[in-house]
Amino acid sequence: MDLLVLNQLTISNLRNISDVTIRPAHGINLILGDNGSGKTTLLEAIHLLALGRSFRTRTLKNAVQFGQQKLQIVAKIKNDIPVGLLFDLTDGLQIRLNSARVKKLSELASQLPLQMIPANCHQFFEQGPRYRRQLLDWGVFHVEPDFNYHWQSYRRVLQQRNSALRQCKQNDEIQLWDNHLANHGEQISRLRQQYLESLLDHFKAIFSRLCPEYLSATYSLRYQSGWQKEQSLKDVLSTTVERDKQLAYTRSGCHAADWTFKVNDSDPSTIFSRGQQKLFFLALCMAQQQAVVVNSIAKGNAAMSEIGIIIIDDISSELDDQHQMLVLTELANLHAQSFITSTDLSLSKSIKTTEQNAVFHVKQGVVSNKDETLS
Ligand SMILES: Nc1ncnc2c1ncn2[C@@H]1O[C@H](COP(=O)(O)OP(=O)(O)O)[C@@H](O)[C@H]1O
Ligand SMILES: [Mg+2]
Repeated sequence: MDLLVLNQLTISNLRNISDVTIRPAHGINLILGDNGSGKTTLLEAIHLLALGRSFRTRTLKNAVQFGQQKLQIVAKIKNDIPVGLLFDLTDGLQIRLNSARVKKLSELASQLPLQMIPANCHQFFEQGPRYRRQLLDWGVFHVEPDFNYHWQSYRRVLQQRNSALRQCKQNDEIQLWDNHLANHGEQISRLRQQYLESLLDHFKAIFSRLCPEYLSATYSLRYQSGWQKEQSLKDVLSTTVERDKQLAYTRSGCHAADWTFKVNDSDPSTIFSRGQQKLFFLALCMAQQQAVVVNSIAKGNAAMSEIGIIIIDDISSELDDQHQMLVLTELANLHAQSFITSTDLSLSKSIKTTEQNAVFHVKQGVVSNKDETLS
């Protein structure tokens, strides 16, 4: 049985959406409407629910509808498990999963694997290593059960070490943390590299379908662990302690990792057009989704297989009709529930409205389902 990820979504007082309930389809959900109608707000609601934070604003105050006191988003996920997010201007944020209050956002994230593809995603390559690490860690988190433990431990120890550095402590007090930091760091790095190698296989296949002109290109992984090659992190930490003391932070480690997939031995940003860069990013996210599904099936969790959510804001920017079609075809074959916005109303002709797919029209914060308006 296919467990639908998000099967009912109610949004109240989020920006220009006062009160809307939609029943998304299993596969592709196209969200069409004019500028300022509320399309991105709908995606923001899904993002908020899955991650407990918005991709548009740091403080949720900005997202509460003008003149209102609170916003609320409620959904049913998987086997009708209720999830709710409430943000009140006075009382702050409260998230409930299956009626229990959620304390750690990672609880939520493992229930609702979500990838967000922003309109400017072609800038992926210019956004710096932090963003690329986040993207990578999303995948490793969902594929490797041990990753979160190592990552949380690593961060904690790193904070301790950095605080010792800032306080100009003696070397032995600083290096008290090195063993732990190195052990978790080496594990994280190994999991990341292993994951990226498998991701590259999924990526190659998807990207060559989205961008057939690169069908016969060669693809390779460039992975930098965050410390000098061929040395253990333990050794690097001990030989660079004087430098770290001067900097007042730990420079080397898996918090400084970076990666990319090279095409014909070049960095994609140096050879690709913007449209191709966007396709590259889309292929990457779809490859991640596939990696998560393949992994969960391999572990015998087929019934529980993590059907993730992919949200794509403004698919039409940078992409011509033909490539938008290719993206939709690829998504239709992917084990994922997707939400895609566009101002191009003719896009609805590109998908079959079956049980798998749905088209929603947004007008001034009101959402209607195409099928419902026709009947
Ligand atoms: N806090 C708010 N309260 C009410 N309306 C808002 C708020 N924040 C933004 N808006 C308005 O919500 C509308 C929807 O924006 P958006 O979802 O970005 O539109 P779209 O993606 O369809 O172009 C915009 O007209 C915007 O001005
Ligand atoms: Mg928008």
